[in-house]
Amino acid sequence: MSARAKRIGITGVAGFIGSNLADRLLREGYEVAGFDNLSYGVREQVPDGVAFHRVDIREREIYDLFGGLDVLFHLAAKNCIADCQEDPLETSDINVTGTVNVFEAARRADVGKVVYAESSALYEGSTTMPTPESELRPQSFYAVSKLAGMAFAQAYQRFFGLRMTALRYFGVYGPRQDYRRTIPPVMSAFIIKLLRGERPSIYGSGNKRRDFIYVDDVNDFHVRCIEDERTDGEVYNLGTGVNYSVREIYDEIAAQLGSTIEPDYRPDLPGEAQANLADITAARALGWEPQVDLREGLRRSIEFIRREVVTGA
Ligand SMILES: NC(=O)c1ccc[n+]([C@@H]2O[C@H](COP(=O)([O-])OP(=O)(O)OC[C@H]3O[C@@H](n4cnc5c(N)ncnc54)[C@H](O)[C@@H]3O)[C@@H](O)[C@H]2O)c1
Repeated sequence: MSARAKRIGITGVAGFIGSNLADRLLREGYEVAGFDNLSYGVREQVPDGVAFHRVDIREREIYDLFGGLDVLFHLAAKNCIADCQEDPLETSDINVTGTVNVFEAARRADVGKVVYAESSALYEGSTTMPTPESELRPQSFYAVSKLAGMAFAQAYQRFFGLRMTALRYFGVYGPRQDYRRTIPPVMSAFIIKLLRGERPSIYGSGNKRRDFIYVDDVNDFHVRCIEDERTDGEVYNLGTGVNYSVREIYDEIAAQLGSTIEPDYRPDLPGEAQANLADITAARALGWEPQVDLREGLRRSIEFIRREVVTGA
């Protein structure tokens, strides 16, 4: 089937990854339908050209909305680890019950394929680095909710033959990375504060190491999930296979901004792993390779935040 004939759905389309994915798919000539309750994401982030539905994934209303979709990316989730630790019940309600509702709606509407967003949080308790897809050690409520979603995804494949691919994103960053949260992800938090001449906070020692992947590289893989049938029934880590400490990230951002401001060290946040590092052998075997290194990715992120957040505010 040609790319132009494909209709793609995205839950969580107003969020960071969903809105970037929608941009990319529209550029490539796909038709895009998007679903989001705007609890975290904002309407202005949904690109023009997306058929947008403001809807909660927990509602039965979604059963009527997925008809005719060739592929559905299920990205909507409650996903700030600290918030999930505060409210395990809502975490389960959105990430487990909501996810099952999405799979059920996809089955009823005969959606061709579902791509489900899992997370590197599934490896929180692992000390095997780089971590292969087989090494499941979830700890936090967020991670446990993703594990439950994974188990339902497998059951929908087993009993209903729903075609699926599961993706375990490591730290995705780039334009629109959620900078509105109480505690934004490190990169946006550092960039915003330093651009404003304020002192950013580092939670913990700054020695935690993270594998960060630029959102365009993740989208390269998303497109493969639509086009390459070898991805059916499989699970893939999406990282770079290289990690950096939080302090190294800080220093790179400060260097790019010419800032000498020192961070304010605060107590560690609950539930976060000390290190992560992706084993990307499986994704590489399909011919995928991350293209954007940390320096370039941060340069582009700074440009976005300077233009859209700090100057535009
Ligand atoms: N960003 C990362 O580094 C990362 C890493 C691992 C996994 N993930 C996963 O990738 C997916 C997308 O992450 P993101 O960074 O774009 O997050 P995000 O918070 O920017 O976007 C999630 C979107 O889902 C929407 N949403 C939440 N609850 C909903 C509900 N009940 N009904 C409808 N919409 C709802 C929010 O409004 C938001 O727009 C999530 O499933 C997340 O767990 C992200």
